[in-house]
Amino acid sequence: MTTMSTRIAGKVVLLTGATGGLGSAAARRIADEGGNLVLTDLEVEACDALAETLADTPGRHTTIALDVAVEEQWREVAAMVGREYGRLDALVNNAAIGSIATVEDEEVEHWDRVMTVGVNGVWLGMKHCGPLIDAAGGGSIVNVSSILGTVGGFGNSAAYHAAKGAVRTLTKNAALHWAASGVRVNSLHPGFIGTDQLLARHEGSERHAAMLAGTPMGRLGRGDEIAAVVAFLVSDDSTFMTGSEVYADGGWTAA
Ligand SMILES: NC(=O)c1ccc[n+]([C@@H]2O[C@H](COP(=O)([O-])OP(=O)(O)OC[C@H]3O[C@@H](n4cnc5c(N)ncnc54)[C@H](O)[C@@H]3O)[C@@H](O)[C@H]2O)c1
Repeated sequence: MTTMSTRIAGKVVLLTGATGGLGSAAARRIADEGGNLVLTDLEVEACDALAETLADTPGRHTTIALDVAVEEQWREVAAMVGREYGRLDALVNNAAIGSIATVEDEEVEHWDRVMTVGVNGVWLGMKHCGPLIDAAGGGSIVNVSSILGTVGGFGNSAAYHAAKGAVRTLTKNAALHWAASGVRVNSLHPGFIGTDQLLARHEGSERHAAMLAGTPMGRLGRGDEIAAVVAFLVSDDSTFMTGSEVYADGGWTAA
């Protein structure tokens, strides 16, 4: 039996898109390592249900609805964090939406939504939570990008690639902005992860086969394998890392 580390004990960590496949895995891991979580997603009821599953962990977990694309909601969330915890140590910008459409087929309305959630959401999170982390003496921001923020993938999902690529460079820019004050900002680039949501959409499809074929390890990743990297970046085990792009992709980008 392995003993879970307590390296996140006492830290306050805000997670966006917390109730999705990777968000809930990250919540479980951070809570298991002793963290206090601010669980946010579009529906507070889903956050409440997630918090209930974490009742066996030592931290204090709170929930609040947050559409990451809406600045006013970020203001409210930042104020709530200040009121409830008096500090913030880490922000995990995890929320995003996808698109399968190609450059030719994408519609302006959906393109704008993918960018607004995936890019503006990350920026607004840093804008409103970065100062709280700074005021706490430094900490960590983890921006969840993707391998599709770096390479061309299957030649479709154009808006998603654009959003995830923007997250990659925005991360480096913010990392330089805060480098001297100890607010670390890194991007995380998962490969294809077999979350329930991804399998429900793609299992058995040509795209599923292509995901497997393009992954040198020959399998999809697991949510807990990404959560472990999130926990590492949130923790003080990564204190000399900022502006880094961290890949957990079964070798996809090595090929
Ligand atoms: N699953 C994968 O294979 C994979 C691979 C690479 C990167 N990623 C990235 O990991 C992150 C999590 O992905 P996932 O697989 O858990 O996806 P998911 O769809 O299961 O979860 C995404 C969550 O974000 C929430 N969300 C959507 N729009 C929102 C908004 N406007 N404001 C706040 N929350 C919103 C959803 O309600 C959902 O809970 C995303 O950034 C995704 O792009 C996933």
